[in-house]
This record gives sequence, C-alpha cells and structure tokens, in this order.
Amino acid sequence: MTEHESENLTALLFARPEISTQMMSVMHMASGRKVVLATFLPIFNLANATTVMQQLTPQVVILDAKVEGFSLPQIVDLRQKAVAPFVVVGLAQAGSSEMEEMLGVGLDAAYPLPLSQQTFARMDEELPGKYEEAARGWGKGAWGAAAPEAIKAATAAAGGAAWEKKAIASWSPKGGVGKTVVACELAAMLAAIGGRDVVLIDANMNGGHVKTRLNIDAPYGLLNAASTYHTHKGHPSLESDAVNKLKAYLIPMPGTPNLKILPGVLNMEQSLNESVVGDAGIEFMNWLIATLKRQYDFVIIDLGSSINVGVHQGVIRSVDFIIVLCEPDLTSVADVKESVHRSIISRMGMNINRFGLVINKWQDGLGVSLKEASKFAKVSAMGIIPNDPTGNVTLAGNEGQSFVARFANKKGNPKETEQTLHGFASLSGQFYPPIAAAWSERLKRAGKKGLFRRG
Ligand SMILES: Nc1ncnc2c1ncn2[C@@H]1O[C@H](COP(=O)(O)OP(=O)(O)OP(=O)(O)O)[C@@H](O)[C@H]1O
Ligand SMILES: [Mg+2]
Repeated sequence: MTEHESENLTALLFARPEISTQMMSVMHMASGRKVVLATFLPIFNLANATTVMQQLTPQVVILDAKVEGFSLPQIVDLRQKAVAPFVVVGLAQAGSSEMEEMLGVGLDAAYPLPLSQQTFARMDEELPGKYEEAARGWGKGAWGAAAPEAIKAATAAAGGAAWEKKAIASWSPKGGVGKTVVACELAAMLAAIGGRDVVLIDANMNGGHVKTRLNIDAPYGLLNAASTYHTHKGHPSLESDAVNKLKAYLIPMPGTPNLKILPGVLNMEQSLNESVVGDAGIEFMNWLIATLKRQYDFVIIDLGSSINVGVHQGVIRSVDFIIVLCEPDLTSVADVKESVHRSIISRMGMNINRFGLVINKWQDGLGVSLKEASKFAKVSAMGIIPNDPTGNVTLAGNEGQSFVARFANKKGNPKETEQTLHGFASLSGQFYPPIAAAWSERLKRAGKKGLFRRG
C-alpha cells in the first residue's frame, strides 16, 4: 500500500491535443516530477478507457472536461469498472461551471485551464496524498454507496425474521484454513448487507492478521483493552471509564462505519504480556465479549488454532457459537473431531450444540461431503464455502479489503468468485436471515440488470 510513496504516480490523460502536448512536455518520465504521464488519448470512450486502465493501472486519471466523447456521468462507470485504486482529476476552464460540476460528481481534484507552472506544482503536491487516501479506502465504501434500494428493501422486509444477538468465533485446530477470512467476511456481510452493528475482534495470539487483511491503521488493539480491564476490574469505574476507553480502541471500517474493529496483538512479546496470558486472558475475554455484546448486535472473533492459550480459551468459553473450519480433506476433518471432542468438550465441559462445521476451500469431487464430514467429526453441519481458484480471496486481502466489499458489488465476476461469495452469504444468513433474502434478490437482479446497480 505504501509502494507509491517514494515513486512517481503514473497518470493517464484524456485531453484535447493542445493540452496533451503541453502536459507531456512537463510531466514526462525524465522530468523528476511526482506525477508523470504514462500516455494520453485525444478521445474518451468508456469501453476503451476501461481496457486501457486495466492494462496500465494508472494511479491518476486526468480528464479534460472538453475532450471529445466525454460526459461527467461516465466517471461513475469508470470508477465501478476499475480494478485498482486511482484518483480522478478534472481540467476545466478557470471559473467555469464545469469546474464546480466536476467536483460535484466526486472527482478528487479539479485544476484550472489554461495550465500553468503553478498548477503542475500543485498536482505534485496534492495528488500523492489523495492517491494514498484512495488506496486506503479502496473497495471498502463501494458496497454501501452502490447497494440498490431493492436490496435494502429486501433486508427491511425480512427484518422480522428471528435472529439473536450473538458472539461468534471463527476457529480451527489447523492453520491457514481460512479462520481470518471467515471472520472478516462474516463481519463485513453482517454490517454491510445486514446493516447490523458489528464488532470484529482479532484475538489470534499466534499472530493476528485482521489488521493486514482489512488494512487497518491503528495504534491500539487487544492488549490496550486487556490492560484497561485489569486496571479497572473490581472498581465501579469498570463499567464507565473502562468501557469508554475500550470504545476509543475500536476502529470504524472506512466505508462501513457500523463495523468496528479491535486489532490484535502486534508481536510475540505482546502475546506474552501478563494481562493476556493464562487466567488473566480468560477473565479479560469473558469481560470483553460480555461488554461488547451489550452494545453491538454481533461480536465476531478471529482466533488462533492453539487452545492452550488463555485468550483463546476465554473466547471459546464465552462466545455463543463457534464456527469450526476445516478443509475438504480427511486429515483436516479428523483434526476437528479430535480437538473439539477431546481437547475442548471434555476438558472445558462445553455443549456440542455451540459448534458448527464449515468446510472452507470446498471443491467438488474430492470424495468428502459436508454430511459425511459432519457425521465423522460429530459436529453439526453448517455449510461449505467454495474454494475460489481465481485467487480473488487472496487478492482482496492483499489489497487490504474485504472480499465481499470488493467483489459482491462488481459485475462480471468469474463463476468461482460468485460461488465463494454465495458461500459467505449463506453462512451469514444463518446468523441473520435478512441477508439470505437480500442475497437471493441480488441473484435475481444479476441476470437482468447486473449486480448491485444503483437504484
Ligand atoms: N474460500 C477460499 N478460496 C480461496 N482462497 C481462500 C479461501 N479461504 C481462504 N483463502 C485463502 O487462504 C489463505 C489462508 O486464509 P486465512 O489467513 O484466513 O487462514 P487462517 O486460518 O486465518 O490462517 P492462520 O492460521 O495463519 O491464522 C489466505 O491466503 C486466503 O486468502
Ligand atoms: Mg488467521
């Protein structure tokens, strides 16, 4: 995400020839400027522009208001079809109404024509920061901004369906099976489609990855919350001062402010801190989950595999439900059986009804069905999440955003990506049924009008 900080920003320019010539002579590769032109086109055509953008992935798109073929509403389409973050900059006659209109349709900046040295200097100064901002917020707000009324209406119509506030953990005895992905996507779906108030806690003491996957920039996290608890426990201030402090540690997700995130520990040293190890960790998580459940509809927790860790044990004991993940291979299913029944149920004395089996990275034809896996592991079946072999799940994480926010809003996804999205929707719908209704509405519209169109 910071890769462009020291480098140039490359720009794609759509402008009348006389403007292109002037810009090219100033903003060329050898000029040492921050913003350099990769190429320019004298005509704007949406299909063409989309293709060029996919090939060049420019960080800046500069549009001359008077370039042939261009009209302002096309900016919205250009943004929707984008595969990478960029800022859109307009050029218009100084003081003209076009200048105002360009800013009105959400351009990131507009500069006056005729161009001057001063304007070039302003571009160099302003655009890197604007690009960083666009890259940070990339995809996160897309869902909310473009969700059609029909989806919202379906959610509202189904709003009477039974659901309960819940704290839900995403766990597996194995590493790398998708605990973090499932926690993040479940939280994103409940908040962005369901419209519920959700808090996502990274409680993986073996190395929390929520912050990386969702590109959260925060100075605080789980350890601050734990210290706060231990400082205030036993005092009346626990319910006032400590809770207020805790709220300050929760980071709203850009674009989906009803999803709050409590980032995890940063390193091994933090996970060995006395406020989170052993019984201190168990006690803290009990308090944290109970406290957050009073204020939020859903508390979603990403866990680490090991159950010999205080915080992990505290979560397993305190949540209402544990999504147990495995992959579609028998060793993975066998590990689930062993750890759920022998290490958790018998040692912690918990009820098996609080566990549900989800097979992630599901593929057909591997000889393991959900039903068989559930019967073998003696954990009730919840569902499958298909493997997305296109890499889009990983891509979203690498770009620092939720997979559903990145792709559920997009038209023309590969079939496999759609199936994986569907898996997350079905899972979320089991906790909040209106999502299932909203999702089937989306599928109906997909055939006719494209996915998640405005209005
Ligand atoms: N359904 C899926 N289809 C394709 N790729 C997936 C899917 N689910 C997860 N992945 C990818 O698998 C990798 C591991 O996922 P994730 O980090 O969520 O696992 P984890 O269980 O949290 O791992 P850890 O044990 O390190 O905490 C990631 O690269 C993720 O993008
Ligand atoms: Mg993880």
